[in-house]
Amino acid sequence: MNDQNVLEELDQILAKSARFREGRVLGSMCSEPDPIVLEVFRRSYDLNAGDPGLSQGLVELENDAIRMMGEFWRWPQASGKIVSGGTEANILALWSFREGRRSPQQTQVLVSKSRHFSIDKATKLLGLDLVLIDCNENGQVDLDQLQNSISKRTLAVVAVAGSTSLGLVDELRALGRIAFEHGLFCHVDASFGGFVIPFLEEAGFAAVDFGLDLEGISSVCLDPHKMGRAPIPAGCLLWKDAQDLERLEFSVPYLSGGQTRLSTLLGTRPGFTVAAVWAVLKKLGKSGYVELVRRSLSLTHWFSEQVSKRRHLRLVRQPVLNVVGLAHRKLNPQELAYFLRREGGWALSVWPEFLRVVLMPHVDRTHLEDFLAFVERHLEKE
Ligand SMILES: Cc1ncc(COP(=O)(O)O)c(C=O)c1O
Repeated sequence: MNDQNVLEELDQILAKSARFREGRVLGSMCSEPDPIVLEVFRRSYDLNAGDPGLSQGLVELENDAIRMMGEFWRWPQASGKIVSGGTEANILALWSFREGRRSPQQTQVLVSKSRHFSIDKATKLLGLDLVLIDCNENGQVDLDQLQNSISKRTLAVVAVAGSTSLGLVDELRALGRIAFEHGLFCHVDASFGGFVIPFLEEAGFAAVDFGLDLEGISSVCLDPHKMGRAPIPAGCLLWKDAQDLERLEFSVPYLSGGQTRLSTLLGTRPGFTVAAVWAVLKKLGKSGYVELVRRSLSLTHWFSEQVSKRRHLRLVRQPVLNVVGLAHRKLNPQELAYFLRREGGWALSVWPEFLRVVLMPHVDRTHLEDFLAFVERHLEKE
């Protein structure tokens, strides 16, 4: 086939996909990347970050990107890696803890019931045991229950900083301190909140206590492909202590670029992602992310208020980050989601008790007004 025919067929098939810019995808934690990404792709699409000896440039870009993300998380000297997303980052964090444990008896990972399922995946893969802790009335991990669950079998605590369901954030300082006092590792899963939490205060919203500098916090992951405006997929894992990363290193002798040490789960990995994460960070900088968070959080508060005013809708909880949970007073979430998708093309995320709207950069007020008008037309009858 010639290029034109291939592309025509591709367009036809891709037309079956919902696109962020159409304004109907309200439940995703991904978004349309910054347009600079297209140019970066043209310049770097043939690079393999898994063979660093061939591309010193990528090594430089990755180190610089890690430093910038480390600055956001108050630890510019962080060691880290750009990875494929939150799942890989969570697996790597727990893997390194397992390699660093004092005794093989330490198999337990304590985390709140609001954790993302990648933590379940990671513990299963690594032969570790998940210990689930209840949430308190604020949706944060219950610290008393967590402390009472610590034993000589405990290896690590995972804090959730932006829960997948409602964007709620555990008490990071207190969790770090508990981990420190008991000699445990503490990983912060800020896959979602990692590009929101550092900018809340400057954007004019209630601050959340955070930082890789907090006592007892060992690592944090944040996903550039969520609120970072980077291409999909792009994750990042930051370590406070370089030793934790070094435990994951394999010495690889045979690569064309020469002998090297690799520490990610993937071998061959996209150099384009590294270049694009760097480019977006350079372009937006801290002030760009503050602006993005100001916009998303303003929209979140406006939307929450609108939901609260609707007769048949219920706001599940006052948002902390840019995530809104809403429920219909009559339809269950499954029915509601199905109806919205089938009749209006609205794609929301479904949870047992509510639907989730994530106020990502591609969502604007006109999309939300359309959505509310649709709900009013179809679901507020009688
Ligand atoms: C809190 C949290 N952790 C981890 C992940 C997994 O991230 P990914 O899908 O990039 O692997 C998600 C995804 O939504 C998440 O919300």
